[in-house]
Amino acid sequence: MFLVTGATGGLGRRVVRLLREREMPVRAFVQLTSRYGELEQRGAELFIGDLREERDIQKACQGVEYVISAHGTNASTEGGAQAIDYRANIDLIDAAKAAGVKHFVFISVLGVDRGYEDAPVFKAKRAVERYLQASGLNYTILRPSGFASNLLPLAERFQQTGIYLLIGDAKTRTSIVSTDDLARIAVESATNSEAQNQIFAVGGPDILERVDIARIFGRIFNREPVIVNPPLFLLDGVRSALGFVNPDAQRSLGTLRTLLANEFFITQAEVDRLETTFGFKLEPLESFLRRYLSA
Ligand SMILES: NC(=O)c1ccc[n+]([C@@H]2O[C@H](COP(=O)([O-])OP(=O)(O)OC[C@H]3O[C@@H](n4cnc5c(N)ncnc54)[C@H](OP(=O)(O)O)[C@@H]3O)[C@@H](O)[C@H]2O)c1
Repeated sequence: MFLVTGATGGLGRRVVRLLREREMPVRAFVQLTSRYGELEQRGAELFIGDLREERDIQKACQGVEYVISAHGTNASTEGGAQAIDYRANIDLIDAAKAAGVKHFVFISVLGVDRGYEDAPVFKAKRAVERYLQASGLNYTILRPSGFASNLLPLAERFQQTGIYLLIGDAKTRTSIVSTDDLARIAVESATNSEAQNQIFAVGGPDILERVDIARIFGRIFNREPVIVNPPLFLLDGVRSALGFVNPDAQRSLGTLRTLLANEFFITQAEVDRLETTFGFKLEPLESFLRRYLSA
């Protein structure tokens, strides 16, 4: 039995779909308020709970062999990085160990080891990585770059307006990962002996400048992009103002600022390592977007 947390998220949904396509038994950890109908239809067992509750986590781990931790903070999350990205994962690791889980796959983030002080999600994930490595559980840690699926709503907006909003330096490099490839790597990490107790940087096969994303949208929709490019210090202005009214939001914007201000790409050697270990070719961003947008 696989336990998947964040099963209604961009990645978690794909992990559950893939496991069910392979006819593997899956328990999907979902919140009562989430959109989980599709998971149930695909034959996943639902565990309705809240990752801020340790008892829910302990119950969800009963009878589980493999855990894929794919939850994270999003707009609907209360509690922020400390509760969701840190505490819930520590509780999940403890409960997995107590339940005799064979393998634990943790979705971290690319650049987690660069010591970004201003990014609560990065700090939480680095602490979880260390805890998992010291836990005695078999593990795989995946450190992905940005997900291609996050670009789908932006692409749909671009289709209507032709506008692409690019905050900060347009030449910053990135290697956006196909969310389907990442789901496959997460699933196969659980049983691939070469992924045992390993850390993988995970990205797409190409290093792109952020402006290239606008160009790809332009090619897909046959439309010249209008790039709106405000400087990063405007975000800093918003953050300072927020500090007076909503310090939590101000802190979480630190993670966004870190993502916008830095480069997140994997090297050719890291691409080769993924393709050799998992035995398939990583999908370029344009191909991922065309597959979804032409459907
Ligand atoms: N997106 C990226 O570009 C990116 C890049 C690198 C790493 N990552 C990491 O990859 C993982 C997956 O990201 P994603 O974009 O797929 O996430 P996502 O779409 O934001 O989904 C987050 C998931 O966590 C669940 N969740 C949040 N709080 C919960 C709680 N209290 N109890 C139970 N479930 C809860 C959400 O449930 P609801 O549906 O109920 O809200 C949702 O299923 C995360 O760890 C993220 O940090 C993401």
